[in-house]
Amino acid sequence: MVSKQLNKVRKFEQKYLPHTKAEQPAFHVTAGVGWLNDPNGFSFYQGEYHLFFQYHPYDVKWGPMHWGHVKTKDFIEWEHLPAALAPDMNYDSAGCFSGSAIELPDGRHLLMYTGVRNIRNRNGRIESFQTQCIAVGDGVDYTKYEGNPVIAADQIPEGGSVHDFRDPKIWREGDTFYAVIGNRTADKSGAILLYESRDALHWSFAGTLASCHNQYGKMWECPDFFPLDGKDVLLTSPQEMTAIGLEFHPGNANVCLIGTYDRMAHHLNRENVHAIDYGLDFYAPQTLLSGDGRRIMIAWMQNWETSSCVDQKLGFMGQMTLPRELSVKDGHLYQVPVRELEKYRGVRVVYQNLLINGDISLNGISGRYLDMTVSIRPANPGQMYQWFRIYLAKDGEHYTMIRFRPNLGTVKVDRTQSGFPHDIVNVREFPVYSGDGNLKIRIVMDRYSMELFINDGKYAASFVLYTPIEARAISFSADGYVYADIEKYELIQEPASVNPLREEGIV
Ligand code: FRU
Repeated sequence: MVSKQLNKVRKFEQKYLPHTKAEQPAFHVTAGVGWLNDPNGFSFYQGEYHLFFQYHPYDVKWGPMHWGHVKTKDFIEWEHLPAALAPDMNYDSAGCFSGSAIELPDGRHLLMYTGVRNIRNRNGRIESFQTQCIAVGDGVDYTKYEGNPVIAADQIPEGGSVHDFRDPKIWREGDTFYAVIGNRTADKSGAILLYESRDALHWSFAGTLASCHNQYGKMWECPDFFPLDGKDVLLTSPQEMTAIGLEFHPGNANVCLIGTYDRMAHHLNRENVHAIDYGLDFYAPQTLLSGDGRRIMIAWMQNWETSSCVDQKLGFMGQMTLPRELSVKDGHLYQVPVRELEKYRGVRVVYQNLLINGDISLNGISGRYLDMTVSIRPANPGQMYQWFRIYLAKDGEHYTMIRFRPNLGTVKVDRTQSGFPHDIVNVREFPVYSGDGNLKIRIVMDRYSMELFINDGKYAASFVLYTPIEARAISFSADGYVYADIEKYELIQEPASVNPLREEGIV
């Protein structure tokens, strides 16, 4: 049965969603109308990929959380479906918080989410009580389980907080279901708890997979845990991170813990810890296993710190990253845009062995919907260049700058002139450890964003831009002598197979 609250949001969507297309990014998921944060329920269900998201349809700011819903066949072209969940039960009256989804053996689609209930305490303060809940459906309509909540306070290990107990990520191995859930423990920092179940309805606590011990931020939100390339990978998004060098920035950050899972102890033995994405806008990633066996990750391309900085004209707030294919090499997580993006490549322009010294603009290299790879090396290895810069989304007033300094081994991105009317953090510098002057940087731009994939995806960095779409110039600049190979594709909204226009320009 569709509740009053869900019916209201579905009617609202029917009225407003059809009119929002023009201002939207071409390839990135948004709510269409209203506010979006974390990806939820990213799953392969009956031959299609479903994505739900934290959703407040009625405003461009966070509010009582619903689950919005989109689906896709190729990770690039998305179709909006009616909202899936509304906060309409006592146990989720303050919001249906983040969670995940899985196809059940009987063909139904199961959503597992955090139900939040607010209660005023004796001091007059509102406290949130968080439990784990289930809804089951057919890919469009979902019914909340009458036995909700399925994991409540009595199943939190001693010292754990019921106020910070959220974001279940479910998976299945044979006939056992598992879920990892974020929790704040007695030392006031985060831990990832592991639960198991035979039927996804009755759960028991299995162990603590990983603990923060105040080392990487505080509460660990939105965990995801999966095996990949012979290693075990835990992704989580810590709150209140303290900066650690250039690796971790303060505030809401993101962390990848790579190691080996001890199945008996239910514990991840860490071997390496690094940031997942080094940009300004990345949080709460979630993964799925695709039909052809790829581990694919999507994240909220935004940061809580800057999420109140809305471009009021747009009518939506928040977007997802492009889905990314993950791999682990030499103990490090690599990520590249899903290969399906290549179907949306249009005109290709290539420059090879181009000598750059000073400033240069190039015929055919401009645009705002693009997929461009720039590989650079010192022209004279005996004399290292000082820096190399790429300017994008440029006109007389705007630009976004990417700078590489070989002697520091860092990339810096500056979006101060990228259309934000807010005094927020607009610069980020991060390590890429390449002192030999060689760097390969892939840049994917959509209407309101830029995602970087450096050295074949070893480092990724995501940035929201609000630069007017007319600012399309691109230029390059080097202090010293640099050889560059540049390959640029325009991205088009229909796949290349239906767009006959495919020219090549090799220089
Ligand atoms: C992370 C988060 C989650 C929570 C959701 C609420 O961004 O804080 O922990 O479930 O957002 O919208």
